[in-house]
Amino acid sequence: MINFKQEIGAQISKATNISEKEICEYIEIPKDKANGDYAFPCFKLAKTLKKAPPAIASEIKEKLEIDENIIQKTEIAGGYINFYINKNMLIKDVLNEIENNENYGASNEGKDKNIVIDYSSPNIAKPFHIGHLKTTVIGGALYNIYKYLGYNVIGINHLGDYGTQFGKLIEGYKRWGKEYDLSTEPIDKLAEIYKRINILCKEDEQVLNQCRENFRLLEEKDEYTMKIWKEFRDLSIDEFQKIYDLLGTKFDSWNGEAFYADKTDEVIDILKKTGKLVESEGALIVDLSDKGIDTPCIVCKSNGSTIYATRDLAAILYRARTYDYDKCIYVTSYEQNLHFKQIFEVAKLLGLDEKYTNGLEHVSYGMVRLPTGKMSTREGNFVKIKDLLNDTIKRANEIIAEKNPNLENKEDVAKKVGIGAVIFNNLATSRVKDEIFDIDEMLNFQGETGPYIQYTYVRTKSVLEKAEYIPKLKDVNVDALNDEYSQNIITLIYNFNDILKQVLEKSEPSILSRYLIDLAKAFSSFYNENKIICENKNVQDARIYLTYITGKILKQGALLLGIEMPDKM
Ligand code: ARG
Repeated sequence: MINFKQEIGAQISKATNISEKEICEYIEIPKDKANGDYAFPCFKLAKTLKKAPPAIASEIKEKLEIDENIIQKTEIAGGYINFYINKNMLIKDVLNEIENNENYGASNEGKDKNIVIDYSSPNIAKPFHIGHLKTTVIGGALYNIYKYLGYNVIGINHLGDYGTQFGKLIEGYKRWGKEYDLSTEPIDKLAEIYKRINILCKEDEQVLNQCRENFRLLEEKDEYTMKIWKEFRDLSIDEFQKIYDLLGTKFDSWNGEAFYADKTDEVIDILKKTGKLVESEGALIVDLSDKGIDTPCIVCKSNGSTIYATRDLAAILYRARTYDYDKCIYVTSYEQNLHFKQIFEVAKLLGLDEKYTNGLEHVSYGMVRLPTGKMSTREGNFVKIKDLLNDTIKRANEIIAEKNPNLENKEDVAKKVGIGAVIFNNLATSRVKDEIFDIDEMLNFQGETGPYIQYTYVRTKSVLEKAEYIPKLKDVNVDALNDEYSQNIITLIYNFNDILKQVLEKSEPSILSRYLIDLAKAFSSFYNENKIICENKNVQDARIYLTYITGKILKQGALLLGIEMPDKM
């Protein structure tokens, strides 16, 4: 397809002798279409060119050698140059591309690049809480989009399945395991056991020592201890899998913390050789104060045990060697900002090629809160995600039964709508913002929600069903799509690939969520303002075709976020 932005960038670059790359970074897509399809803010060059923006604008405009087949007109408005692209050219180009490309918007820009994404990563024997839902959904969306743009992606569930707390849990299990039936709700019961043993440990130093001994046995891979630990892990994974099945989440690797337990010695050896690993109150730490990080990174506790951070350092070594990653992305809440700052800094001491330390990226997100009073919460903040997802599906079912009582496959549709609502809600706003999890709000078919996008898609389907045909592109007269509503849709569709690139640049799937809302809204306006099935066959064909491709992009975009479309709802 024609890259309008690049065409404009090349021209301005020629006129100013500033690199095309820099110019393209400044080019904007105006919110108000009255200001053109692209705009160049000349004040960006004021410093370099030592001139006022309006003067720069008219100088550049003078020098532009624009092909009218591509850019219809240019206008100066204040310090901006506004570019109006040739809509006929755009329409032909977009339609052709969609017709000939099953995966419209995909690319191979990621060819030969390896991306590791560490996401979800819950802790075994603990409830999968609402924060883990968010990493699961954000990580999943990034995974899909990287793949779509041709990257080789490795999705890792870095399970929290190791640490001294397992010494305690094993002790509790040895004492009271028989009292609990772990065949149902095992995580609740393990959490209960953990609570009990903690209370006992506080009362009785003797018990605490036994817990330490259990952990030592686990470190030594003692057969019996390993057996109990493995049971906790398997039971937990079975529970997590139920959630992943609902959400459609997949991983390429389940190597969690335990996998790195025997790989931490190397980390300590390397760090010792750098001289940066120093003793402090019996522990081994790396002081990071000269890097602007006040809290040192503990690598080895005074009792000789390694910690979460040590295993993450071992994981960086392993991932660099195993996956030769270009990027290694971690998706967690911002509570772990300090942790990742520390380990990314310490990783620079591991003797890795700069490629690997530069490729580390922490994608952090805000807190998720429940509207108080609306849902029962167990133990304060911990809501069981499984219940929450099932509640949402149930509510979706009620809404659908009310709106469309005769719908077939109601259960399946309710599942897609309920899950789609949850996924979209997690991706709807910029990830650093805190978010409220409100079932009624996210299921609002008229709001900026997942179901609204699904509903719009279903509308495109019913138009096609009513028409009973989809015209061939060669029979479509693109002049019939000259109205503002059609053009809005086409411009949006043209931007699809660019939107996906922006998502990856900023690790921000909400850019795609926002885009899908815009596209759904543009279709709603088109649908309300234009008769699709009409007297003029020429116009009808063109509009049906536009309806068809809008549905296609809505579906593809939603799928990249992890949302499935029902055909009816
Ligand atoms: N298990 C951790 C938690 O629940 C998240 C792990 C994130 N990944 C990592 N490599 N540290 O908070």
